[in-house]
Amino acid sequence: MTAQVIDGKAFAAGLRARVAEKVAQLKVDHGLTPGLAVVLVGEDPASEVYVRNKGEQTRAAGMNSFEYKMPATATEAELLERVAALNADPAVHGILVQLPLPRHMDSAKVIDLIDPAKDVDGFHVVNAGKLAVGAKGMVPCTPLGCLMLIKDRLGPNLAGLDAVVIGRSNIVGKPMAQLLLRESCTVTIAHSKTRDLPGVVRRADIVVAAVGVPLMVKGDWVKPGALVIDVGMNRIPKEGSNGTRLVGDVDYQTAAEVAGHITPVPGGVGPMTIACLLANCLTAACAQAGLPEPVL
Ligand code: GUN
Repeated sequence: MTAQVIDGKAFAAGLRARVAEKVAQLKVDHGLTPGLAVVLVGEDPASEVYVRNKGEQTRAAGMNSFEYKMPATATEAELLERVAALNADPAVHGILVQLPLPRHMDSAKVIDLIDPAKDVDGFHVVNAGKLAVGAKGMVPCTPLGCLMLIKDRLGPNLAGLDAVVIGRSNIVGKPMAQLLLRESCTVTIAHSKTRDLPGVVRRADIVVAAVGVPLMVKGDWVKPGALVIDVGMNRIPKEGSNGTRLVGDVDYQTAAEVAGHITPVPGGVGPMTIACLLANCLTAACAQAGLPEPVL
């Protein structure tokens, strides 16, 4: 079998266009423009690229983008003060504090201060708890994007399918497992201590790899016809040069020969994260204005 490639770049472009349409409608109907605030502390080059992309795509969707850059020497108290000011600002409907934070800051404490209604990352314990009990709340962007790609290929009913999520992070693995459970999948969360990981993955109709180990999931781990979502973004040395190349957690070459559907890296899950962030910000703005949840 040769897998069908899941084009996350195209799907994300479509989602951003639908968000932009709803944003334009919101302006006409209610005079409301969603606003997203992004706070970046320090000068991590990868984070600077992410934040710049977020700002550009926020504006392209017709929303207001507020960017706050703080030096790496800023104190935790100064960051908490900034978050408190954004919580109180009615023009700001979504707040994202770019992670990782400098080591002298406690990211849990910072996330804890974000108003859960404005927590477009879905990282606040209130939103994590809502997801766990099946209540409406903000859902983390990457898992939300993965679920959209899965449903786009398998249809809306995932009930009874075996899903294996590799990785147990609060940002991807745990919320991804909760989302799949909410869809009535039989969910296994595998991680670095899992015994016979290849055997566990081989049972899965849906595999979501989010471990951060380059090229770990091999073709012979994959059940023929399974859907494989690769969340990994790993830089490894490029053969025959002193540059690097971006690879996922899945060995694409071998897995694509066995899987039914597979996301590439780059161009798979990556573009979905910011598109879902924009969707979450629109949803947050509607909720804060007492309007119905937009259907995207
Ligand atoms: N750093 C890398 N990805 C993310 C993300 O999705 N949200 C935040 N806040 N920081 C990140």
